[in-house]
Amino acid sequence: GTTLGASAAEKGRYFGAAIAAGRLSDSTYVSILNREFNSVTAENEMKWDATEPSQGSFNFSNGDRIANHAISRGMKIRGHALLWHAQQPPWAQNMSGSALRNAAINHVTRVASYYRGKIHSWDVVNEAFADGTSGARRDSNLQRTGNDWIEAAFRAARAADPGAKLCYNDYNTDSINPKSTAVYNMVRDFKSRGVPIDCVGLQSHFGTTIPSDYQANIQRFADLGVDVQITELDITQGSNQANAYAQVVRACLAVSRCTGITVWGIRDSDSWRGGDNALLFDASGNKKAAYTSTLNAL
Ligand code: XIL
Repeated sequence: GTTLGASAAEKGRYFGAAIAAGRLSDSTYVSILNREFNSVTAENEMKWDATEPSQGSFNFSNGDRIANHAISRGMKIRGHALLWHAQQPPWAQNMSGSALRNAAINHVTRVASYYRGKIHSWDVVNEAFADGTSGARRDSNLQRTGNDWIEAAFRAARAADPGAKLCYNDYNTDSINPKSTAVYNMVRDFKSRGVPIDCVGLQSHFGTTIPSDYQANIQRFADLGVDVQITELDITQGSNQANAYAQVVRACLAVSRCTGITVWGIRDSDSWRGGDNALLFDASGNKKAAYTSTLNAL
């Protein structure tokens, strides 16, 4: 193929980008989006603070701008993210206990129901494990409602949108390490007890190199019977960026259950990582060497 999306589709995968509703009026941005990508993720617009700014009162206007663009262009939509310790609305930040648990599950039900039938995969829970070697859950207001908050969220999401793939998404889980092993053990437990989970998202925010056991880590999750998606890929620019992007593509294509790759933005100037120039297009919208190596690896 001659574009990322078409080439990925030839391999039975999608190639997506995180996009911002506020940039949909930028013609350079939109022309790259429409030409190259066949999946989108809302960079911020479907998060809890954006969708439920006051308790029980929902606002889907910016999420819908992204969803409508995707639907009109035949692109898949990754939903991101139903529950997360960050970007919670202030009212939720100040809640705890059963009131917070009920509010969180209501949030999952309402948002997943609103978008029912439109979302290819939902990040039901984002970043719930601690960094480092403990393998523990991250401390958060949600975690303090009880260790079963994650499975409760997945069950609510399944009931609300039975057709969406339900994902657990995290960072620093790209290699085989104590944090990714803790996620692995949770997924294995969920599968054994019938808790609905369909995929694991590896955010894949990388420095200049890719972990040597990246493919092996993708494979071990796939072997549990879940899909793996590369959900937020970006790689610091340096002499290795083009090679590193190609390595990511090759690792995903080598595992049949690695079903798609999403880059976390379009141009370097759109990236949350500022000066790292971590994406596939420069600030003017020109294709970088990393673009060419990615396309050639697909
Ligand atoms: C980031 C967005 O890119 C920023 O615009 C926002 O200010 C903060 O969140 N992990 C995630 C994403 O799951 O939601 C984060 O996105 C990046 C890290």
